[in-house]
Amino acid sequence: MRLVLLGLPGAGKGTQGDRLSQKYSVPHISTGSIIRAAIDAGSEIGIEANKYISKGFLIPDELAIDIVEQRLLQPDCNGGWILDGFPRTVQQAIHLDAKLEKSRMAIEYAIDIRISEDEAIKRIAERRICSECGSTYHLTYYRAKGRGVCDNCGGRLYQRSDDNEMTAKERLRVYLKQTHPVIHYYAQRGKLYSVNGERAIDEVFADIETYVLKQARKNVTGEKL
Ligand code: AP5
Ligand code: MG
Repeated sequence: MRLVLLGLPGAGKGTQGDRLSQKYSVPHISTGSIIRAAIDAGSEIGIEANKYISKGFLIPDELAIDIVEQRLLQPDCNGGWILDGFPRTVQQAIHLDAKLEKSRMAIEYAIDIRISEDEAIKRIAERRICSECGSTYHLTYYRAKGRGVCDNCGGRLYQRSDDNEMTAKERLRVYLKQTHPVIHYYAQRGKLYSVNGERAIDEVFADIETYVLKQARKNVTGEKL
């Protein structure tokens, strides 16, 4: 499985990426999570990236490309991966394709999880994340059973610093301007599958899974994609 998850901030890329990763045992690579870990660690990359992420802007392409290239070199990526939050510009998509074609590991498909902008803001404003295991919750849609505590590991739940209203609106604006063209990039190459993300998490997952399994069968039987 080598797939890319696209969609507005809050669309459910992380939620669906985690589920796919657990079920199909391939790493879920979220550039946003890698960058936030670098910021928390106070590394050079983290300090540089925080200048952009804190304002809702994209980090420079070279930096994002470097982060993903390093991650894809890890041995756990040999059997496939799920990319979440990358590519986010056409430039990143072109670079990734060129790199993967050399290693004969081309992207199989891109899944665009579609939600409205209003829904994106609702999801971002009420998202909470576990400080220990990274599990994601929502104060209305997907509540943790304990107050402010993770169901899986008991870790403290926190709100991402870029999940405030002003930064979230900027992230939506940036997405529409810089990332939306990436959807056309994959559509033109016959690799795009769009799902309605405004359904229950399980329903969205079932839709994605049906598509993924159908593609896998086509690959095995040699049927035309
Ligand atoms: P990133 O971390 O990727 O953030 P994002 O794209 O804004 O997406 P989110 O993580 O906010 O949303 P999501 O789609 O993962 O939704 P989730 O599953 O959590 O990037 C952050 C920043 O890093 C960027 O702004 C940029 O600065 C930088 N960056 C990252 N990659 C970069 C790159 N390649 N180039 C340059 N810069 C880069 O779900 C959201 C909420 O909704 C949760 O509470 C969840 O429980 C709930 N939910 C999910 N699905 C459903 C559902 N079906 N129904 C109801 N609730 C749901
Ligand atoms: Mg995410």
